[in-house]
Amino acid sequence: MLRQDPEIAGVLLGESARQSDGLQLIAAENFTSPAVLAALGSPLGNKYAEGYPGARHHGGCEIVDLAERIAVERAKALFGAEHANVQSHSGSSAVLAAYAALLRPGDTVLAMSLPHGGHLTHGSPANFSGRWFDFAGYGVDEETGLLDYDAIRELARARRPKAIVCGSISYPRHIDYAAFRDIADETGAYLIADVAHPLGLIAGGAAPSPVPYAHVVCGTTHKVLRGPRGGLILCGERLAERIDRAVFPFTQGGAQMNAVAAKAVAFAEAATPAFAGYAHQVVANARALAEALAGQGLTITTGGTDTHLITADPAPLGMDARTARGRLAAAGIVLDTCALPCEDEPAARRTGIRLGTAAVTTQGMGEDEMAAIAGLMAAALREEGAAARAATVTLVHAFPPYPDQG
Ligand SMILES: Cc1ncc(COP(=O)(O)O)c(C=O)c1O
Repeated sequence: MLRQDPEIAGVLLGESARQSDGLQLIAAENFTSPAVLAALGSPLGNKYAEGYPGARHHGGCEIVDLAERIAVERAKALFGAEHANVQSHSGSSAVLAAYAALLRPGDTVLAMSLPHGGHLTHGSPANFSGRWFDFAGYGVDEETGLLDYDAIRELARARRPKAIVCGSISYPRHIDYAAFRDIADETGAYLIADVAHPLGLIAGGAAPSPVPYAHVVCGTTHKVLRGPRGGLILCGERLAERIDRAVFPFTQGGAQMNAVAAKAVAFAEAATPAFAGYAHQVVANARALAEALAGQGLTITTGGTDTHLITADPAPLGMDARTARGRLAAAGIVLDTCALPCEDEPAARRTGIRLGTAAVTTQGMGEDEMAAIAGLMAAALREEGAAARAATVTLVHAFPPYPDQG
């Protein structure tokens, strides 16, 4: 590779170094296993496989059919679902397919509003969802930051949606799927759970499962679940055919069979006791980090977390979230900004920082390191950038994401 294409080889090596030389606190990222990477980089990526196992539009699918059958069976067993579709190219594609299976253009859908933590696919005007459907947004209580189920019920009664979406890019607490199903049943709506973020916690038994409650569950395999970049859809037998046809041929062409095989590898990894230990440690780490960050003066939304995800306002330290993200990045600490649920405030104050503990937990860090990370973040925010950068490198080099690669 170095000899054939030094330009791209340099990019690969540079990104690899960037990932292991900094603290990766982006809540949606993780380090997949070498086995997942091997499946992703395998010749299965060469194969065209439109359709489903045993019913493909291409010849020569007998081997890749095995990969998809194994992936489907593993996903069903892991999540206790009657049906799994493993072909969605991404989380957004999975949500698109769920809408395609259940809705018609113009239908009313309830979802968390974007300023309160909804995803682009939950009705953003910049996204197909906002263009093709009539979204009504629910939010969180601005005092507590928690979902207000009574207000959601009122909104559902008033708008009579065809579907209700629960799930978020930044809500740090468990979602009450039974309450959402109750609201959906009362108002005659389908319930779609978009668990892109907590899917890995659900697999590891560290978060409640929406599978018994939602008509359709959408997720991503690349976040806490620690698999390849891609989507997953789970549903009951009754909707199985509609979901499959909504993925292919309605919204996608050929499946990416290397990614399907890598998903199968990730599902097997997620079924192990070691993964359950990791999932619970992710949450313990997030709780420890949230507490330590509060101790450093940041305001933690909802006062803590049940999951891998923390959102925080650095305003008490005298800066906005963009400034905070820049100072942290200069110290090698990588995270995102996100909308904070306080609609009355001026635009510049409506952002917070969003961070997650999945990647650092995969690296082997525990609660002690979370306290150290909070200290490093506080130093970086106080503009002690050089010292924080050096201490960050020392910390992360003790926890290499791929120790066997030297
Ligand atoms: C709740 C939610 N839904 C959907 C997605 C979309 O996933 P992808 O980026 O794979 O399209 C995300 C990604 O962050 C998400 O958090």
